[in-house]
Amino acid sequence: MPGRLFPLGGPVSEEDIVDREDFLISLETRLLECQSIMLAGPRRIGKTSLALEVIRRIKGKENYVAFVDLFRYNTKRELALALINACLENRSGISKTTTALKDGLKKITGAAKLTAKLQDLEVAFGLPGESKSDDDLFNYALELPEILAQKDKKHMVLVFDEFQEVIRIAGEDALKVMRSYFQVQQHVAYLFLGSKEGMMNTIFGDKKQAFYRFATILPIPSIPSESWVEYISRKFQAQKITISDRVILEVLSLSGGHPQDTMLLCSEIYYSLLEAGVNNLGLDFVRLGYERALSSLSPVFDELLDELGRIGSTRRVLISLTRGLRIYSGLSSNPNEVKRAVDVLIDKAIIEKSGRGAYHFVEPMLKEYLNRKIEVF
Ligand SMILES: Nc1ncnc2c1ncn2[C@@H]1O[C@H](COP(=O)(O)OP(=O)(O)OP(=O)(O)O)[C@@H](O)[C@H]1O
Ligand SMILES: [Mg+2]
Repeated sequence: MPGRLFPLGGPVSEEDIVDREDFLISLETRLLECQSIMLAGPRRIGKTSLALEVIRRIKGKENYVAFVDLFRYNTKRELALALINACLENRSGISKTTTALKDGLKKITGAAKLTAKLQDLEVAFGLPGESKSDDDLFNYALELPEILAQKDKKHMVLVFDEFQEVIRIAGEDALKVMRSYFQVQQHVAYLFLGSKEGMMNTIFGDKKQAFYRFATILPIPSIPSESWVEYISRKFQAQKITISDRVILEVLSLSGGHPQDTMLLCSEIYYSLLEAGVNNLGLDFVRLGYERALSSLSPVFDELLDELGRIGSTRRVLISLTRGLRIYSGLSSNPNEVKRAVDVLIDKAIIEKSGRGAYHFVEPMLKEYLNRKIEVF
């Protein structure tokens, strides 16, 4: 967001993407080789930022790109139109080509050029009209990337953000239909992103699923501390604030290097300094910023806890983890129930497995929040 020193709450622009360079190169190379990829990861770790940056680079090299965020749609028809528009934008230069065609056809003026531009794709007439059934439109949308790429002699990269939502939008059978189109396409590579890791892993990793082995599943690497240290010191120094590496390492140990939590913490530290008119960042301001960041996260964490409160023994398991206990030995519940709770916590990207029977919090700030709240449970 313009004017913000540390970007928060949405995809970050190129200059604020910390590290990721090697991973971006790897994504770009694979996609340009027509390899489709699946990336699943917890909320707010930077999936969309990565995808947008990769398509920015790919587009710059004269390829076609399309980006569709499935969180934004509720019906098959909406999804189909979004996909068609994202594809056609490469040729028409406008984001809502189907609407422009529809309006244009009514008004006549201005439509002729656009229609001519798209004539060979058979979308110019009838497409936005009501005559096509949802399924016809959906099938057409799935076919379009390859048709377009072939006709224009381009390579195309298509990103589906929050891909697991396709089941909510179009039903499980839609996956079969999609795969049947995608697998014969020669000029299109797909990048599937998802924040519900469990669902994504099932869609792409379960033998019974249509997308089984369709895409290479890559883990999203964590951002190394050195990259954060370099970024954070550069940012503060640009504001004429002095900061030592030791202080930055303290920031990172509090946030655990979680991308958005680290940005939030830095941001709160920065505002605390500004308000106090101080330009030398010491541990006292790190503490202050941390308290402020934790309180700004509390509504998010509370909502998460409310949600978990309704799911069996997940809360109990979470408390044991917060206390640093080994969950299977420390709890009296039956192991199957514990296992189910652990699965829920992993699926919700609250914890990650770090070894046999050992788990850690994805966000150390949530752990600290729970620590302080534990007696209230
Ligand atoms: N590489 C990165 N460098 C710096 N900050 C990052 C990076 N990746 C993510 N962030 C931080 O995380 C926030 C969310 O990024 P982004 O929207 O790309 O993540 P996401 O995984 O797609 O999230 P969501 O699950 O909400 O879709 C950013 O606003 C930024 O604060
Ligand atoms: Mg995202």
